[in-house]
Amino acid sequence: MSEIHLGIACDMHVHVREGAMSELVTPTIREGGISVAYIMPNLQPPVTTLDRVIDYKNQLEKLAPQTTFLMSFYLSKELTPELIHEAASKGAIQGVKCYPAGVTTNSAAGVDPNDFSDFYPIFKAMEQENLVLNLHGEKPSVAGDGTDIHVLNAEESFLPALKKLHNDFPNLKIILEHCTTEAAVNTISEINKNIEDASQVKVAATLTAHHLFLTIDDWAGNPINFCKPVAKLPSDKRALVRAATSGKPYFFFGSDSAPHPLANKAKHVGVCAGVYSQSLAVPYLAEIFEKTDALDKLKGFVSDFGLQFYGVKTEQLKSQDEVVLYRKEQTVPDSISDGKGIVVAPFKAGDKLNWSVKWVTK
Ligand code: NCD
Ligand code: ZN
Repeated sequence: MSEIHLGIACDMHVHVREGAMSELVTPTIREGGISVAYIMPNLQPPVTTLDRVIDYKNQLEKLAPQTTFLMSFYLSKELTPELIHEAASKGAIQGVKCYPAGVTTNSAAGVDPNDFSDFYPIFKAMEQENLVLNLHGEKPSVAGDGTDIHVLNAEESFLPALKKLHNDFPNLKIILEHCTTEAAVNTISEINKNIEDASQVKVAATLTAHHLFLTIDDWAGNPINFCKPVAKLPSDKRALVRAATSGKPYFFFGSDSAPHPLANKAKHVGVCAGVYSQSLAVPYLAEIFEKTDALDKLKGFVSDFGLQFYGVKTEQLKSQDEVVLYRKEQTVPDSISDGKGIVVAPFKAGDKLNWSVKWVTK
């Protein structure tokens, strides 16, 4: 196989920031082979109003007119069921992202994952509107009170909360974002064990490209590979690769590409969490799918399953162009820059990749 047609590829977990950083990275969504991007709302302040989300989408469309943007609100006390209904009826958002407070970049305005009951009226409205609840599935770290939550067990500790939400709202579409553990993969598989058809999936998981490569040793000592949730053990990585290449419609792609200025990655303390992988998103995936002899499963993972889960319609697309993966070696650049001071180090800088992408116009 030297050319693979992937159709309308989507990245269902994207951070493109605002201002100069956004100008640099938003056009790289398409460079990475992606047509549809689900945009995260963890700006400062977070995206919690209709005007803001509409304005943000307009800004992004100016920067990348051929990319289709799906938008989200940031789960917080500022949201109301009325706002959810209004935003959904206007088509302004496709989901709401939940950040437990303190677990990751710009999560200070987030929620307490030990008790979601205050948000049940919001979840009810979302269920009625068929919106997606995107979960950053980690418990905040605590030590010494008998619970001992830390970066290695934070995701597994969150899984009971996921199951409870699904029990309480069986028709709410939920995504456990950027899964990093075998335990999470098993939970998603277990919830879906009686699913016969992709249209029945209510609880899905996104998987990033970088977590298919990395384990704990790759970020301990290398801030470029440090992100939340952190990459875990080799056995976890193997489970993620198995899930990505399984052909199951409840595992699909969300890069969690999260750019930070290189200066904020090269600090002695307070290193920012986030790996930037946008500009080579599909080529990174191709490496893993080729190595595991699963290139025939890539289209499902990166195109079909995400489109199906979000119910993306052809008429919503800003461009009908389709992406083609082809065998052409390339070297990941050491950095990308706007020439005006913003520098970002891409994932696997300096490494060779076997695949490139091009577009065919329909
Ligand atoms: C993300 C960011 O930088 O916004 N960082 C990360 O490590 N993944 C936030 C997030 O998705 O957790
Ligand atoms: Zn993210």
